[in-house]
Amino acid sequence: MLTSLLLKNIKCLVQTEGVPKIKKCGSEMAELTVISDAYLFIKDGMIADFGRMKDFQSRNLIQTHELETIDASGRFVFPSYCDSHTHLVYAGSREIEYTDKIRGLSYSEIAIHGGGILNSAKKLHETSEEDLYSQSIRRIEEIISYGTGAVEIKSGYGLNLADELKMLRVIRRIKETSLIEVKSTFLGAHAIPEEYKNRRAEYVDTIIYEMIPVIAAEELADYIDVFCDKGFFDVEDTERILMAGLKHGLIAKLHANELAYSGGIQTGVKYNARSVDHLEFTGNAEIDALSGSETMPTLLPGSSFFLGMPDPPVRNMINAGLPVALASDYNPGSSPSGNMNFIMSLGCIRLRMLPEEVINAVTINSAYAMGISETHGSIAKGKVANIFITKEIPSYEFMPYSFGSNLIETVILKGKISSPHPA
Ligand code: NIG
Ligand code: FE
Repeated sequence: MLTSLLLKNIKCLVQTEGVPKIKKCGSEMAELTVISDAYLFIKDGMIADFGRMKDFQSRNLIQTHELETIDASGRFVFPSYCDSHTHLVYAGSREIEYTDKIRGLSYSEIAIHGGGILNSAKKLHETSEEDLYSQSIRRIEEIISYGTGAVEIKSGYGLNLADELKMLRVIRRIKETSLIEVKSTFLGAHAIPEEYKNRRAEYVDTIIYEMIPVIAAEELADYIDVFCDKGFFDVEDTERILMAGLKHGLIAKLHANELAYSGGIQTGVKYNARSVDHLEFTGNAEIDALSGSETMPTLLPGSSFFLGMPDPPVRNMINAGLPVALASDYNPGSSPSGNMNFIMSLGCIRLRMLPEEVINAVTINSAYAMGISETHGSIAKGKVANIFITKEIPSYEFMPYSFGSNLIETVILKGKISSPHPA
C-alpha cells in the first residue's frame, strides 16, 4: 500500500504551479514561481497539496496513520528533471575516439573511419540483451541519483531489425522495472550501416517496410526519430520515414541541424514533430518555421560542449518567443553524461541562459518534449510525485552555479523515497 508523505519546513519549493502550463515560451521562460517555508503533501504517488507552512497548520489535512514525515529545513525541493533526449541504452564505451578527438579528428572524420555510431552498433551486436540491460540500468540508477525522474531513450545502435528490437526491448524492460518515467523512441535512421554503404535509399526502405511495422505491432516505441543532417539522412529520407511512422501512430522527434542547415527543423515542423533537437545551425528561417508551431526546440549543450561544436543561438530563439528545452543527449559518442544539473550549468555558462530559464528548460519544457507535461515537470496538484530534495543550499541559482557537484540528498519517485535520506 502506498504511504502518504509530508515534507515540512521546506526552505523553498521550486517550480510550483496553481494552473499548470504545458510549456513556457519566450519571456515566460525567465519566470519561476517558488514558495518559501513550504510544505508538500504526497498521497498515492501524486502531489496532493502544497503551500506555505503557516497555512498547513490551520488546514490539518493529514488524517492517516501511514504518514511519513521529512523535515526539509534548509533544503530546496524541485520537481525531478525530465531528460527528453538520451541514447543511454548502449554497449561499452568510446573513450578511444574521445582521445582521437583530442588528437584533432572531427566527429565526421571519426564517423567516416568506421567509428562513431557504427562502432557502437558493432559493440551492441556482440552484446546480449541481458548484458545490455544490466549496463543500461546502472546508467538509469545513476541519473536517478542525479535528480532525473523521466527519461526518453532512443534505439539507433542496432541498425538492423534484430538489434533494434534488442534495444527497444531493453528500454521496455527499464520501463517495467524502474520507477523512472520512460518514453521510447525508434531511431533506426541514426546512421547508414556498413552493408548499405552507398545504398541509403535501400536502407530507408528497410526501415519503412521491415522495421516500423514490427516495432509498431509490438508497441515498442512512442516516437520515431531520424538523424536529418549532412552526411546522414536528407529531407527526402526523413519525410519518407516520418510518413511511415505516422501511419503506425509514431509521433516524430528529430535530430536536426547539428552539423549544417539541413532542413531538418522545417521538416520536423511540417510533420508536427513533438521536438526538434540539437539545432546548432538555426537561422531566421528556422526560427520562423518554429514560431507558432507545436514543436519544442530542444538544445543539447552536453554534446556541443563535448565535441567542441558551435552553440545554438538560444537568445534569438527566446527573443522570438519560442520555448526551449534542454536535455542531456546521454550517449557514448557525443555526451557520455546524463547529469542534468551539469546540463543546466552548461545552459547558463555556454548558452547564457538565466537560472530560471534553465530550470524551466529541464522541467516543464522538457516534459513537453516527452509528451508528459500534463503529469510531470512541475509541482502542481494531481501531478506525479517525482521530486528531489537538495542538501542545504542558499538559493536555487546555486544549483546551476555549482557545476560538477551533486547537491541532491533525497529522491522521491512516484511518491516513494528511492534513495536514503538522513533521519
Ligand atoms: O545525438 N547526433 C547523432 N547522434 C548522437 C550521437 C551518437 C553517437 O555518437 O553515438 C547525438 O549526438
Ligand atoms: Fe542524440
